[in-house]
Amino acid sequence: MTDVVKVEIEGKSYELPVITGSEGEKAIDISTLRASSGYITLDNGFGNTGSCQSGITFLNGEEGILRYRGYPIEQLAKKSSFQEVAYLLLNGELPSQADLTSFKTKITENSILPEGMFKMIEQFPSTTHPMGVASSMFAALTAFYPEYVTKTELNSQEMNALFCQLMGQAKVIISQFYRKTQGLGPVATNGELSYAGDFLNMMFGGETGKEVSQAVSDAFDVLLTLHADHEQNCSASTVRVVGTSKVNLFASVSAGINALWGQSHGGANQAVLEMLEAIQQDGGGYQKFINKAKDKNDPFRLMGFGHRVYKKFDPRATIIKEACDTVLEQLGVSDPLLDIAKGLEEVALNDSYFVDRQLYPNVDFYSGIIYRALGIPTNMFTCMFVLGRLPGWMSQWVEMRQDSATKIARPRQVYTGATTRDYTDLSKR
Ligand code: ACO
Repeated sequence: MTDVVKVEIEGKSYELPVITGSEGEKAIDISTLRASSGYITLDNGFGNTGSCQSGITFLNGEEGILRYRGYPIEQLAKKSSFQEVAYLLLNGELPSQADLTSFKTKITENSILPEGMFKMIEQFPSTTHPMGVASSMFAALTAFYPEYVTKTELNSQEMNALFCQLMGQAKVIISQFYRKTQGLGPVATNGELSYAGDFLNMMFGGETGKEVSQAVSDAFDVLLTLHADHEQNCSASTVRVVGTSKVNLFASVSAGINALWGQSHGGANQAVLEMLEAIQQDGGGYQKFINKAKDKNDPFRLMGFGHRVYKKFDPRATIIKEACDTVLEQLGVSDPLLDIAKGLEEVALNDSYFVDRQLYPNVDFYSGIIYRALGIPTNMFTCMFVLGRLPGWMSQWVEMRQDSATKIARPRQVYTGATTRDYTDLSKR
């Protein structure tokens, strides 16, 4: 097996080591290239660049494979709970019954916020985008837990405690902002419920609230599992990159939330729903929107379609499509937007533009229809993604901090600006 590759630059040959992953993926280690040759590599959007070695999530986009710590996503979605998956991501192993009970108890105990944070949430205008609230509140945790701010190295006990704390507090931050917009007070956590069930109860429960059925909270739990990690995506990479500066986890996660917000990433779930509504208002014809997406002079893209790494299908989308049918049936909801989504998918999958570019529905194409059926406001959809992705971000952050190879992230560039000029005095300009 080749363990070095030769690169020829300006007639000179350089040997670069090859790193092989546990699934046979190969990478050329170019870390010495500039020092030896003066050349750097340029890779816009990092589509061909590995930023780290990771043992958390394996993804093969050509085959539509996704595994957390070796376990296929299909099995985890069917058999495990979201909290089990969160434990798995962090610890590398599925929990025993005792481990899981203790993990869940710690999350429940931490599903509270300091009084000052409730007051801060109250101060946001109700029209604030919830993702702005979420990222601000994660950054604001630094004010209330200063012990984690100055300490740059955490032992595993502290890390586990912080992991459970943030999983608990994320539920409160997101649900409490929603309740504030509705003029409602907080609903306390209930440790008897699943993570998803507790969150939905904190959103919609209380004395005058509604009870969420087991089947619906189970479907929501599956959704969280499907979002739990996705290797070096934009937001996880952000969390890692920010964390390489040795800043605390609160600040790193806050940055990840902001990265997720954009419509090319997690914000697509909101954008999909808005697109489906626009199609509905326009009379329900898909072709006009398909044509717009294909028009290179129009910035419009088919939201929820395409993925940087999946080129065959997104395995999460397949599971979500099924969950979507279950939730709507359980809730007795018949949503015309689901019919539009299915019709749009069918037309796009038979259109050579999308086929040639390997553009398929991604995880966000159907998730919004589930959130809508649950009564979650459209601008809060991406916050559901935050809840799901949080264990992944934190596990990636822990791995990065524990890896002795980690260095501060500091890419280079190819400078294309003006070359040296002489300064002209202000009076002469
Ligand atoms: N609609 C129409 N055309 C598209 C779409 C789309 N949704 N996605 C990609 N294309 C086209 C591009 O115009 C390009 O065409 P060209 O080769 O003729 O120039 C080609 O497909 C390749 O697209 P890129 O932008 O180079 O692909 P990239 O990997 O950089 O982008 C992305 C991936 C951002 C997800 C893109 O497919 C997109 O914008 N999708 C819509 C937004 C979305 O659903 N985002 C959620 C992704 S999943 C997640 O993050 C949770």
